[in-house]
Amino acid sequence: MKTIDELIQGGVEGQRVFVRADLNVPLDGTAITDDGRIRAVVPTVSALAEAGAKVIVASHLGRPKGAPDPRFSLAPAAARLGELLGKNVSFATDTVGDSAKATVAATANGEVTLLENLRFNAGETSKDDAERGAFADRLAELADLYVGDGFGAVHRKHASVFDLPARLPHAAGYLIATEVGVLKKLTAEVERPYAVVLGGAKVSDKLGVIEHLLEKADRILIGGGMAYTFLKAKGYEVGISLLQEDQIPKVQGYLKRAEERGVEFVLPVDVLVAGEFPDLETKAPAHPTTVAADAIPADQEGLDIGPETRKLYASKLADTATVFWNGPMGVFEHPDYAEGTKAVAQALLDSPAFTVVGGGDSAAAVRLLGFDENAFGHISTGGGASLEYLEGKTLPGLAALED
Ligand code: 3PG
Repeated sequence: MKTIDELIQGGVEGQRVFVRADLNVPLDGTAITDDGRIRAVVPTVSALAEAGAKVIVASHLGRPKGAPDPRFSLAPAAARLGELLGKNVSFATDTVGDSAKATVAATANGEVTLLENLRFNAGETSKDDAERGAFADRLAELADLYVGDGFGAVHRKHASVFDLPARLPHAAGYLIATEVGVLKKLTAEVERPYAVVLGGAKVSDKLGVIEHLLEKADRILIGGGMAYTFLKAKGYEVGISLLQEDQIPKVQGYLKRAEERGVEFVLPVDVLVAGEFPDLETKAPAHPTTVAADAIPADQEGLDIGPETRKLYASKLADTATVFWNGPMGVFEHPDYAEGTKAVAQALLDSPAFTVVGGGDSAAAVRLLGFDENAFGHISTGGGASLEYLEGKTLPGLAALED
């Protein structure tokens, strides 16, 4: 994979360099609530601008349906990127239309332009190779060189991620190089004991990675909404908690295989429950109660791991050499259900292990809960991307940068 340093050494002055970033940041209206992904691409954009390139940054935001939708505009990201770079970032109000062409044409050496959300064009995410290719052709007209740096999107076979690099001389940006370097440490060269903490809502999103980790990890700790499918698979009643009934046989298979292979599977021993989901807008007190994991009342749902589980999980992480964490332990956006996620974050900080926090939600949780992100070994900008990498899958956006 050619590096951005090699590309710059080859001379980029006056060249239009298309940087595929992942600026898919959480928004509250037009306010960015976590700018981690924008900060992550700054080194690449600055280096290119300093080397005299005309930098054309592009990204997706959210999942618009292939047509312009103001709720998913990247305009707030352009403003924030400009603040972080300390220079104006021109914003094109379309992707390959008149605004993009004019804005790119007006971009001087060392200046930066951001295109509007790539997913406002149906060609970006199309499953049809020809439709995607046609969009990639039009994007290619806007640039001379391509730098892939949207790590969070490299698992997507999308026009700007997969098809465009085939049309332009290309290299990997600093963020992708760092992310891949770290993930390699979790696959080929992992130091043991290796513990993995998985949370988040749906167990179905994590099936592939669990399969793979059963061969790799020494310990797997489960929290978040997906924990209730595991508890049910053990025969516990889970009340009205989030449950993926259809996944139970699979989960039972995992628990059995873990036992056979000597992989320690750790499930919550107590949980915080309430009769309803908390109000995340008003953050009104939710008054949860703590119950044992095998005693969740029929009319209650589990919304965070309980105090005994927090202690248990901290002890299971204390003597590890490597930890990968993906997915919050509960509804951390509400203060009454943030303690489980906080406890795992703190346990990672207290452990001597090399700690990797993988992905959108957990990375945002770490920052929103006030932890110093620099204290962790690495905070990945990619949720799905890092999980798919750990599954051993070929990621289209990385494969496209290989040759
Ligand atoms: C992410 O948030 O994981 C990436 O930006 C990819 O977004 P997507 O899941 O909508 O493709």
